[in-house]
Order: sequence, then structure tokens, then C-alpha cells
Amino acid sequence: MELNRFKGQVAVITGGANGIGRACAVRFAEEGANVACLDLAAEANEAAAAECRGLGVDALALSCNVTEPDSLKAAIDAVLARWGRLDILVAAAGIYTGSPLADVSLRQWQRLIDINLTGVFLSNQAVAPILMAQKAGSIINISSMAGKTSWPASAEYSASKSGVIGLTRSVAMELAPFGVTVNAVCPGNTKTDMVRNVAGMIGQRDGMTVDEWLAMRASDCPMKRLAEPWEIAGVVAFLASNDSRYLTGQALEVDGGLVMS
Ligand SMILES: NC(=O)c1ccc[n+]([C@@H]2O[C@H](COP(=O)([O-])OP(=O)(O)OC[C@H]3O[C@@H](n4cnc5c(N)ncnc54)[C@H](O)[C@@H]3O)[C@@H](O)[C@H]2O)c1
Repeated sequence: MELNRFKGQVAVITGGANGIGRACAVRFAEEGANVACLDLAAEANEAAAAECRGLGVDALALSCNVTEPDSLKAAIDAVLARWGRLDILVAAAGIYTGSPLADVSLRQWQRLIDINLTGVFLSNQAVAPILMAQKAGSIINISSMAGKTSWPASAEYSASKSGVIGLTRSVAMELAPFGVTVNAVCPGNTKTDMVRNVAGMIGQRDGMTVDEWLAMRASDCPMKRLAEPWEIAGVVAFLASNDSRYLTGQALEVDGGLVMS
């Protein structure tokens, strides 16, 4: 069945240039939404917007640093100038750093928290008044299975992703009376550049090749494989659709059964 659930709506995707964010941008475009990709990776961001336009919708690639309120404001202003509305925010911009606790510098901690947690806070804050005023809309924040469980040498990443879940719950309660839903998605290992870079970094530390490390992660998972980015985007689209209007403040694990909290 071909779905066209978002025709005439506008979806804003932070981190839309690559990986999970890009898969979300494409999914919303496939279902008729106009899409704005907000990212620092200019070339990939242009390519993501072009891919969306190729699906027959309008799309913008906007240079944006989610850690800077002025940069987010300029991007949201550009969205409103172009389409006069905004219906969906997916906050997917994020990075991974991982080191044993003793090696995490304050700078590394603060940079990751700035992007993964403060960036989600700022992007939620930037769109909330618009969604509240129109009394409709959805925010989907990309957390991680690391927000619900953890492993060694991941303090800053896990802390940021648990923080995203707490932030999501509070924003959900504030926006619920306005008919706006706010949820988090907690992906397991998903085939993106991020996970390939992690495989290189941790694999090297643990004496494994990238492929060996990825195979080990797949074998940890009850489904015995990593996720494809479109499998995360499908759940994000569900959370932006009318089928989930009574679902808010949740943090859904999309991880092949790995965490099951
Ligand atoms: N890939 C996985 O296995 C996995 C698992 C769980 C959660 N996640 C989360 O999903 C989200 C997307 O990850 P991905 O795997 O697609 O990674 P990715 O590296 O492929 O994409 C992340 C995007 O975020 C952008 N970005 C980084 N810092 C930014 C900033 N300050 N401002 C604007 N954009 C910025 C990057 O340029 C990039 O395009 C992240 O929040 C990540 O933590 C990923």
C-alpha cells in the first residue's frame, strides 16, 4: 500500500544530510511532505535535499549548527518564509565519541553534550511555539538504545541519550494540551557512517576489523543483524502520523529486540 500521509505538511530534519536523518527526510518526501534538511555537512545536505526534490516535493538544504540558537532560528525562519508552516521536527543531529572514563576530557564531554543534548533542547525550543500555536504537530527526538542501557567507555554518549529521553518526556507533557505529540526513538546499531566510524575506532582498540566488530554487534542482537536507516525512518514516520495521535512522551526502542526495557 502506498502511503501519502504527509501531503502538504512540512518536515524539518536536523542531521538530515546523512544516515538516519537523511532516511527520515526521504521517507517524509516519499509521503508527500516538503522537507528542510538542517545540517553542517553542506555537500551531503544539498544531495539529501536534491534526493527529496526528485521524489516530487519541495526541499531545502539549510546550513545549521544545532548548538547555536541563532543558527537554528535562521533555519526555522527560512522554513516559514518558504512554506508558511511547520508540522514535524525530527531531531537527529548527533555524534558519537567513546573513551574510557579516565580519558574523557572535559572538552570531549561538553562538545558531545552540546550537540546530542543541548542541540535537541534548542531545536525543540525553536519549533514548540509554532506547533503550539497551530495546535497540531509532532516532534521526534532521536535518542539511542544507549539512552536505556549502557556499556563501558560510553559515558558521555549514554548520558546525552538518557538526557534526550528525560527532555522528551517533559516537553511532551508541556505540549500535550496543545495536541502536539513528542516522542523519542531509540535505535539499535544502524548502518550509517556513524556506526562504521565507531566500528573502526572501537574495533581498532579491541583488535578487530570493522567487519568483525559489526558482525559481533549483529550477533548480540536477537534479529542477528543491524538496522537499515529506513527501518528507523518508518517508525519516525509512524510517530508523525495520525495513527499515533494518542501516543506521547514515549521512548520507543527500534533495535531488533536488543534492549526490551
Ligand atoms: N547509527 C546508529 O547505530 C545509531 C544508533 C542509535 C542512535 N543513533 C543516533 O541517530 C542520530 C543520527 O545518527 P547517524 O547514525 O545517522 O549518524 P550520521 O553521522 O550518519 O549523521 C549525523 C548527522 O548529524 C550532523 N551533525 C553533527 N553535528 C551537527 C551539528 N552540530 N549541527 C547540525 N548537524 C550536525 C552530521 O553532519 C551528520 O549529517 C544521532 O543522534 C545518533 O546518536 C544512531
